[in-house]
Amino acid sequence: MSIIKKLNTDLEKLVESAGYSVENLVLQPSGRRDLGQFQLNDAMTLSKIYKKAPRLIAEDIIKVIEQDNRFTNINIAGPGFINITLTDEYLAELLTEIYNDNSLNIDKRTKKKIVLDYGGANVAKALHVGHLRSANIGEALKRLAILLGYEVIGDAHLGDYGRPLGLVVLEIKKRYPNLVYFDKTYTGDFSEVEPPITNADLEALYPYASNKAKEDAMYLEEAREITFKIQNHERGYYDLWKKVVEISKRDIKQVYDTLNVNFELWLGESDATEYLNELDEIYKNSHVLTNSEGAQIIEVKEESDTSPMPPLLYKRSNGTVSYETTDLATILQRKKELNPDEIWYCVDARQSLHFDQVFRAARKVKLVEDRVELEHIGFGTMNGKDGKPFKTRDGGVMSLKGLINLVEQETKKKINPDTVEENKREEVAKIVAIAALKYADLLPFRGTDYIFEPEKFADLEGKTGPYLLYSTIRMKSLLKKGVNENIGKITKFKTETEKDIALTIIRLPIILNKAFDSRSLNDITEYIYKLTSLYNKFYTENKILTEEDKELKESWLTLTKIVYDINMMLLDVLAIKVPEKM
Ligand code: ARG
Repeated sequence: MSIIKKLNTDLEKLVESAGYSVENLVLQPSGRRDLGQFQLNDAMTLSKIYKKAPRLIAEDIIKVIEQDNRFTNINIAGPGFINITLTDEYLAELLTEIYNDNSLNIDKRTKKKIVLDYGGANVAKALHVGHLRSANIGEALKRLAILLGYEVIGDAHLGDYGRPLGLVVLEIKKRYPNLVYFDKTYTGDFSEVEPPITNADLEALYPYASNKAKEDAMYLEEAREITFKIQNHERGYYDLWKKVVEISKRDIKQVYDTLNVNFELWLGESDATEYLNELDEIYKNSHVLTNSEGAQIIEVKEESDTSPMPPLLYKRSNGTVSYETTDLATILQRKKELNPDEIWYCVDARQSLHFDQVFRAARKVKLVEDRVELEHIGFGTMNGKDGKPFKTRDGGVMSLKGLINLVEQETKKKINPDTVEENKREEVAKIVAIAALKYADLLPFRGTDYIFEPEKFADLEGKTGPYLLYSTIRMKSLLKKGVNENIGKITKFKTETEKDIALTIIRLPIILNKAFDSRSLNDITEYIYKLTSLYNKFYTENKILTEEDKELKESWLTLTKIVYDINMMLLDVLAIKVPEKM
């Protein structure tokens, strides 16, 4: 149990011994630091239950708390707010305990298995800014859940199955009609034939084919046919498609690597197709499929709906499978192969209707037991200064690589040429750029849109990745300079700033839980900023290494180490790497 939780339980017992029973007492940081470090608001709630004035209740409670020598300066404010302060000795003791065992600053949860569907890159299409947030938020949620004791299996769920692939294969056929893949008389092994195509070609092929299909109905029809052939494993087409997936996947992996995003599973939509027959059986037997102009649909409307809920398109009239249906098959696959307690989808909020439809259709036939949670974790968009989803200068979709480059141009200016050797500068600028981008992306609540401002993201001051990296590196270098000094015990504080740091440290478990419950990293990004700026204030106000009071010096170094460790841990949760120097 974390120290803060234990503190809450201890106070709960004290309140009980004063004659009042409370559940889930929570010490709040005081709104009036001049009156105390914490405040207890429970007298207000208890007043209703015990039909007694809150102030009288507060008086009963403080009589008991006053007996406990861990607390000091206990007073009542307003109608019955109880202010409490921890004695310096006790606060120092708590910090030393955390220094010795940082598991005392985390509350683990009951272990559950979560499948986390995030990333969602599409094969043969460049990763764009829309994929950035899924990767960043998903990776960080995964790491947070693991830190809190869950088992999490991250799955990239590649978009490797729909019409875009049919379009790409069609366009390859138009450009290279003589490829063996299209030669019906070829009987050899396709795995030995490399198509003459690079990833850059693929990225150009898709937009071209997609535009052409919009103007040319014949072309679109051909693409449909090819999609059908691929989905039915027709020799040649199917084999070429697999090659395309392979080429594209290599590139996608590289981009995710740069973002420090790692998936446990690299499955795609197509991997769920093995379950399509079984899925058909389930849906047919439950009589929920309806015919609609040759297509098969599932009604998912519910009486309580206040907004339109169209039916889910289960199968198109030409037999091809929809995005909805591959998602249903994937649920079945995950249940059979992984048997999770929860499935989370970290996907753009604009797909919320899709997930409503899919979850309802899944519940209709109990694809998973009711206890298995299906949750769409939606997020807002990253916009340009015009407030619309970020585009390139000529109005096209900005690739993720292009975006990273823009930030890198800014962080390059921030690298200190006196500390970083010339041959390392580029590499460091890249690490800092990724940190800048990721921190900015995780700073707002996930549902909120935000504006892409590379100059601001790269700033060395304020709520930015570079500020945190710079400060953390400085803590590390201080600890390095002080290696021969005593460290391990906090015995005293000199200023209120240090106590504020200490109080911020012990609140960490609350922040982690809050972030987890809201499935958003903003509490964590705000917290690191707060802790770091408090620390920096303390750092500039004191000369730590030349302090003559030995106990104070040891307390300060120990405090530094705790803050440094928390920063490193939280940056790791956010999947932000810290360079050696910058
Ligand atoms: N590939 C999809 C896209 O780019 C995202 C996939 C999200 N995951 C899912 N199970 N539908 O929009």
